[in-house]
Amino acid sequence: MHQAPAWLLWCLFDPDPVSLLTLTALCSVSSVLLAKAVARAQKMPSVVHSSPFVSLRPDPACGRSGEERQKEKRESLPSRSFANLSGLSNNVDVPSLSNGVAHRLANGSSNGHTNGSAARQDDEFLRLASPQQDLLLLHGPRQKYSLERARDIPELRGDHEILIQVLAIGLNPVDWKGADYDFGQPSYPWVNGRDFAGIVVKAPRNESRVQHGDVVFGPSTDYRDVRKAAYQEYVVTTDYNVARIPSTTTVKEGAASGVAFVAAAVALGVSFGLDFTSSRTSPAGPDFLRMVRQLDPRDVPEDIRDECFTSLPTAERPQPGEWLAIWGANSTTGQLALQLAKLAGLKVACVADLAKGGQRLSELGADFMVDKYDTKRAVDIVRAVTGNNLRFGLDCTGKDTADLLQQTLQQSNHGRKSHLLGMTGLPKQASPNVVHHKLPIKLFHEVHDYGEALMQWLEELLVAKSLKLPNVEIAEGGLAGINDALDRLRSGTVSGKRIVVPVGNESRSGVSDSPQSPTPAINGADGIIHSGDDMTYHNQINSDPDRLKFAYWVPNVSGGLVISKILQRTHWDLKSNVRYAKTAERVGFEYALSQIRFMAGYGAENQHEPVSFSQALLGATEKLKVIAALLPGPWNPAVAAKQIASIDNYCDGRIAVNVVSGWFKAEV
Ligand SMILES: NC(=O)c1ccc[n+]([C@@H]2O[C@H](COP(=O)([O-])OP(=O)(O)OC[C@H]3O[C@@H](n4cnc5c(N)ncnc54)[C@H](OP(=O)(O)O)[C@@H]3O)[C@@H](O)[C@H]2O)c1
Repeated sequence: MHQAPAWLLWCLFDPDPVSLLTLTALCSVSSVLLAKAVARAQKMPSVVHSSPFVSLRPDPACGRSGEERQKEKRESLPSRSFANLSGLSNNVDVPSLSNGVAHRLANGSSNGHTNGSAARQDDEFLRLASPQQDLLLLHGPRQKYSLERARDIPELRGDHEILIQVLAIGLNPVDWKGADYDFGQPSYPWVNGRDFAGIVVKAPRNESRVQHGDVVFGPSTDYRDVRKAAYQEYVVTTDYNVARIPSTTTVKEGAASGVAFVAAAVALGVSFGLDFTSSRTSPAGPDFLRMVRQLDPRDVPEDIRDECFTSLPTAERPQPGEWLAIWGANSTTGQLALQLAKLAGLKVACVADLAKGGQRLSELGADFMVDKYDTKRAVDIVRAVTGNNLRFGLDCTGKDTADLLQQTLQQSNHGRKSHLLGMTGLPKQASPNVVHHKLPIKLFHEVHDYGEALMQWLEELLVAKSLKLPNVEIAEGGLAGINDALDRLRSGTVSGKRIVVPVGNESRSGVSDSPQSPTPAINGADGIIHSGDDMTYHNQINSDPDRLKFAYWVPNVSGGLVISKILQRTHWDLKSNVRYAKTAERVGFEYALSQIRFMAGYGAENQHEPVSFSQALLGATEKLKVIAALLPGPWNPAVAAKQIASIDNYCDGRIAVNVVSGWFKAEV
């Protein structure tokens, strides 16, 4: 627990978490964006040999500058494959401790496989100048990710695990949805992030397609294993969960594609049983359904066993020439599903914002497209064009559109059943003769042979240029820039492309790695900070999820808060209050309560109306959440709700309401 600054003559209280939650129900807690680090052009490795894949091993320059190469020559180190990525030094000291949380997450202290002896001194990884692990921690629902530093690089377990130094991270919708709606984090604090591309700095112990130095990409579908999350500089994964990047594909495209490709391939190949073996125009893929059904069911996690083994009778598998409809086809997943379905000979109907994505969908092979905005018309058109024979629907948007898609499916009693898979939700009820499917994506990391077959096929497709990978928008700032970039996703303005964040030295600036929190300077005679907007101290003391939360009463009425004849030192005017509020947030206060007086008043002769006063304080602050007082009697609830909702919108969800009633009957 952190000590509140005693020099502040403010009333503190420790709100009960439940009531606080209730009070803040109207708002989502948000904070200003983390400090932006200076953008740096990402140096991507280049291919230098005849293999179709990019690898740093045979490259004597390894993408390094001439100066770095000279330095290496002088020091004539036997292994230097990764030195370009972090500078070159024999210094193997790990950086200073950051906080206990990050240490716990790092799972041990070795830099490599833990079986056998501890990390060897000749381990090339130890020659990285700063073997450090910057990561983004989510400390609780609806919080921003916090850039911190773990002491250790995650350890490897088992024969297939590999360690990746991350070059670029692709952002997925689940990265913000999971944080905002509190799912996908087994506990807090947690590291998120699903898509990455990077360099293999620790190869697997077993014989493998993937070698030390390969540039690879992959999704982290195993979100329960924090070592595998993408929002960190070093990521653990397995050789069967990554694809090597061919020279014709860029690292940023790789970082954009892992989750969407795997999701699309699992949905079509396993849930719908689409057979990829007969593709004539591109490398044929495996028959994934057959492969999975040959497994011993006990080797498949129980919660996806039905989906893998029984939900689709073999006779109902789609045949070339049949229709598939994709709702939300502009999405990255939709675009990859469209292409995979075309490779296997299906006809594909796409529902999407066509003004934004129509041209792209047409290039990717859509057989027909319909705009998503008139939903009834879209349903009617899909039904008409597919002759009411549509049996496969893939929704990439949400429960409501999955419901609409269900209406397009053939639902007659005759013939085979129809199949609907919702990437992100399904209708409450299945229509007659429509089977609902949930994506069994964990097959990818749980079943070695499946993951390996999928990644091998992906490599072949990329080498043959049979897939168009997503359009990419680069977001700068490294790990520290991810909060900003996720806000863009939240806003719904990113369409038909992935945001990719290059990761490099820039993420290291602004990392909280000091064992001591810096304390704010006090520079006023009254003990109040008057200048500067530095939120470092606020961020640091409020990054502990078990912290005590502090709030103060806003003196928006004259006379302050105390029923006393003693002259109060706080002023009730706005200017003074802005100064109090700014100081309060800088020193770590998270909440402020504005107070209401109407008729009653113990000395409060002058009063600012609390909702408008709260709005003024919110406009002047960045992080403080202001709980505005309302009396239920004088305010029409609908007007009050609208007013608060509007303010909530202006201040990124930092307002809440305190409905005050009771003590003075005439006011209620
Ligand atoms: N279950 C799984 O394992 C799994 C795996 C992969 C994906 N998914 C889910 O499948 C869906 C698609 O994923 P994706 O990565 O392919 O999506 P994406 O590339 O980010 O595209 C999402 C599409 O939704 C629309 N959109 C963008 N921002 C939005 C917002 N804030 N609110 C509502 N709509 C928005 C846009 O469509 P328009 O251009 O038409 O406006 C955009 O093209 C997501 O819900 C994702 O979570 C689930």
